[in-house]
Amino acid sequence: MDRDLDLEKKIRTVGQEIYSAVSGIPPVFDTKRWIGRIMEWSMKNEDFKTRLFRFIDVLPSLKTDDVVVRLLHEYFSGETEVPKIISGGIGMIARKGIAPIVAGRVIRKSVESLARQFIIGNDADDLSRSLDTLSKDGTEFSIDLLGEVVVSDKEARAYAERYLALLDILHKRFPDGAQPDVSIKVSSFYSQLDPVDWEGSITRTKEGLRPLLRKARDLGISVTFDMEQYYYKGLIIAIFKSIFEEEEFRELPFSGIALQAYLKDASNDIPELIGWARDRRRKISVRLVKGAYWDYEVVVNRQKGWPVPVFLNKEETDLSFERLTRLLLENRDIVHPAIASHNLRSISHAIALADALNISKQAFEFQMLYGMAEPLRTALRDRGFRMRVYTPLGELIPGMSYLVRRLLENTSNESFLRRSFSQGTSFEDLMQAPHVQKADSREETPNEHFRNEPLLDFSITLNRKHMADAIEAIKNKVNEKYPLCIGDREVRTGQELSSLNPARPREVVGSVSSGTKKEADAAIEEALKASKQWRNTSPDKRAAHLFKAAEEMRKRRVELAALEVMEVGKTWKDADGDVCEAIDYLEYYGREMIRLGNLKILGDYPGEENEYRYQPKGIGVVIAPWNFPLAIATGMTSAAIVSGNCVIFKPSGLSPITGYKLFEIFKSIGLAPGVLQFLPGPGSEIGEYLVSHPDIDLITFTGSKEVGLRIVQLAGETAKDQRNVKKVIAEMGGKNAILVDETADLDEAVKGILESAFGYQGQKCSACSRVIVIDDIFSELCQRLKEAIESIRSGAPEGAGIFLGPVIDGLAQKKIAEYIEIGKQEGKVLLERKVSGEGYFIGPVVFIDAKPGSRIATEEIFGPVLTIIRAKDNDEAIRMANESLYALTGGLFSRSPANIQKVKEEFLVGNLYINRKITGALVGRQPFGGFGMSGVGSKAGGPDYLLQFMNPICSSENTLRRGFAPLRKVN
Ligand code: FDA
Repeated sequence: MDRDLDLEKKIRTVGQEIYSAVSGIPPVFDTKRWIGRIMEWSMKNEDFKTRLFRFIDVLPSLKTDDVVVRLLHEYFSGETEVPKIISGGIGMIARKGIAPIVAGRVIRKSVESLARQFIIGNDADDLSRSLDTLSKDGTEFSIDLLGEVVVSDKEARAYAERYLALLDILHKRFPDGAQPDVSIKVSSFYSQLDPVDWEGSITRTKEGLRPLLRKARDLGISVTFDMEQYYYKGLIIAIFKSIFEEEEFRELPFSGIALQAYLKDASNDIPELIGWARDRRRKISVRLVKGAYWDYEVVVNRQKGWPVPVFLNKEETDLSFERLTRLLLENRDIVHPAIASHNLRSISHAIALADALNISKQAFEFQMLYGMAEPLRTALRDRGFRMRVYTPLGELIPGMSYLVRRLLENTSNESFLRRSFSQGTSFEDLMQAPHVQKADSREETPNEHFRNEPLLDFSITLNRKHMADAIEAIKNKVNEKYPLCIGDREVRTGQELSSLNPARPREVVGSVSSGTKKEADAAIEEALKASKQWRNTSPDKRAAHLFKAAEEMRKRRVELAALEVMEVGKTWKDADGDVCEAIDYLEYYGREMIRLGNLKILGDYPGEENEYRYQPKGIGVVIAPWNFPLAIATGMTSAAIVSGNCVIFKPSGLSPITGYKLFEIFKSIGLAPGVLQFLPGPGSEIGEYLVSHPDIDLITFTGSKEVGLRIVQLAGETAKDQRNVKKVIAEMGGKNAILVDETADLDEAVKGILESAFGYQGQKCSACSRVIVIDDIFSELCQRLKEAIESIRSGAPEGAGIFLGPVIDGLAQKKIAEYIEIGKQEGKVLLERKVSGEGYFIGPVVFIDAKPGSRIATEEIFGPVLTIIRAKDNDEAIRMANESLYALTGGLFSRSPANIQKVKEEFLVGNLYINRKITGALVGRQPFGGFGMSGVGSKAGGPDYLLQFMNPICSSENTLRRGFAPLRKVN
């Protein structure tokens, strides 16, 4: 305790000394300068801050001055209050009729000079000039080349090349034995880096890194790995260890890695890394940072339903930083500690502690970011401490994420720099020891509301292992045979439907008995028998069955996902996503039925009681597709069941085993026989028979437009003694377009299009098959997209790193091949990648210059084929997008608030996605479904869906007897 008090005293003394020596204010806080004034505004007005940072973000990528001026108006005219410096500028442009070219130049210059506060320059000349001035006092450097996002192998190679050139420059500049350092983003060395493909990512990233590390070793330059988002943390550490275990890099001076104190895991990771270094007798450098992605980690992990990995209380981060500083200093024989902070308290703590531990000033170093805290840097340097400045170099477009991170950091409420330089917080408060009241910041406990089932986090070793084991287990099960199920009987008809692995069609995943009209009749009879009891079961009890099924599915989630990988060729992530969506439907529709099951009283008039309730329609047929073999089947089936209908479930002939598993789950939770029956068989035979049967009241279908329209037609033919007009809910196809305007973030657009068009080989009804791009950026987008597609990995999806698997069967493969031939007549091939393999592999193919109205631009292809269309402006883009009989999903990549609004109003689609992929709708958050030729019925996973499965009933009772009316019931 005394030692702690001593240390605290020392921290204050050190702090006081440095504090008194600090003179001057960093430009971003200096309100005498325009930059400082604008930043001051943004700290007072959150809305302005958002607009400002978004404007800064989009500006460098704008090609023309007209657009710059237009966006200036869009961001800053209107509701929000803006500082005079901006409103005055806007007014002056309008009043004086300043030409966009002049206004555009002034605006660009302003943002450039803001960026130059944090980014040293564009190129080697800028670097040399600045380093000359900055290094006069012995400050050292770590140079970071901006260009974080790479979407293709070609971009990764170009990035690596730039680093090689940088090493040459540094070598020439530091011939006298100084220790220059470069900082690298590991994710920029391999475009497909993803923890799901752990081994593949390590191998390929190391291939990208080796030339850089060899040269660094030969020139005596050290290399530090930056730490990125939490999802990549484990993988980056693994790559660091793996490459520095290689014999040829044992001698690299101070290979270093940044580790983030805001992570709850850091207290395990750092000792573990120290142990690794000790075991190998290899000195490493650890750059201790607090962490730059705090907001991102909180938002994204909450969105995914994953535990938030960062501390939620700033003081916990500060305390963690101090504890980890001690750990590094105490292990300085094997770790070179680099304390990276701009916080006087954190820095003073490190100095006081080093002093208490008798550690010389040369045994560790401080590090700061260029432009963040120059007055503090100078004060420390003057006191003889080693100082290294992290110095970013590069163009503004690739530097934008870095710049925005710095602006956020400076203006954050929790920022030490803001508190000291802008808010005038007292020395005493600044130097308070971090104090954590509770042991840990807790996440709020989940409530009773619906929450989406979190996807599996494949950055966790155990999850990857479970998935790989489950796939292996399925491979080892040879051709298991499954019955169809009528009432409580398992029936084997003697006719088999074999389900093949599309990646290796000789491999039979399993076989189911195939039904005929005879079994269909028997199933209808059983459903009619079960119907009365089931419709009289209370909505709450029916919902409870869904919740139990969800629980069971959760237990079996990995087995089910693995089955989808093998039966329909989904990648690990897509298969897992499908299982999560299935669980979501069960949980969501269960809650929806409880809500709708509550009796509603209408009107408020004495003597009259109007009750509004829902009754099931009767007997339903569910005709499910193969592309979301569990999710869509579960959604349609569970909606029909929970609303009191009895259901005959016909799975797709291409995914009957997954269909059986769904049935098995419902059976295992004790659903009464006849409520759900499993009846696989040929669509043309039993599908049509069931749809036309007079005892069927309800048909729920997802599939092609042709089959959907045929069902609508058949269902419309009413038999003589039929009780009900059949209700058809049909979700059909789409010819979905993504629009990309001249303000789009192309990094995001390329990734979003790639995922939307080629995820699951383009076999999602929501998949993108047209991209409509504004002329100005057409060539750039095409080029980057082409290179990105060339970089994705294809093969049998049981391999974790595979992006593109096989299409579902030979027929699909043939049909897609025919469309590719048509495309070659109608347009030009931008890219045709040949994917070979024993299975049903094809494409991907991208066409350009196809005429509007051509078949490849209008017909649904359902495969990895994309058409890119050029539009002269946004109006034309929207008009082209709407030239389709379908209206399912659509997307827009844009940073223009006005265009986003316009597209929201004018793009005729059921689901519109802005600045994200257009697939992957989440239950309860993005209810899914379209109109036009895309389907009839309201959205799956939304609040109106169950209403379609029930008839609303209203009973009105006259409660007035002899002039006396009882108290009225109210909702
Ligand atoms: P200060 O004391 O003001 O701390 C701010 C930090 O506290 C935030 O950045 C965040 O980490 C944390 N925080 C904010 N609000 C919080 C809350 N409510 N609860 C809990 N914690 C909260 N970063 C990174 O992620 N990877 C990297 O590789 C690098 N590399 C790097 C190199 C060098 C040389 C430096 C100087 C910095 C980095 N950084 C980084 C950036 C670094 O993470 C960032 O500059 C620091 O977190 C700022 O911390 P200070 O101690 O300077 O400020």
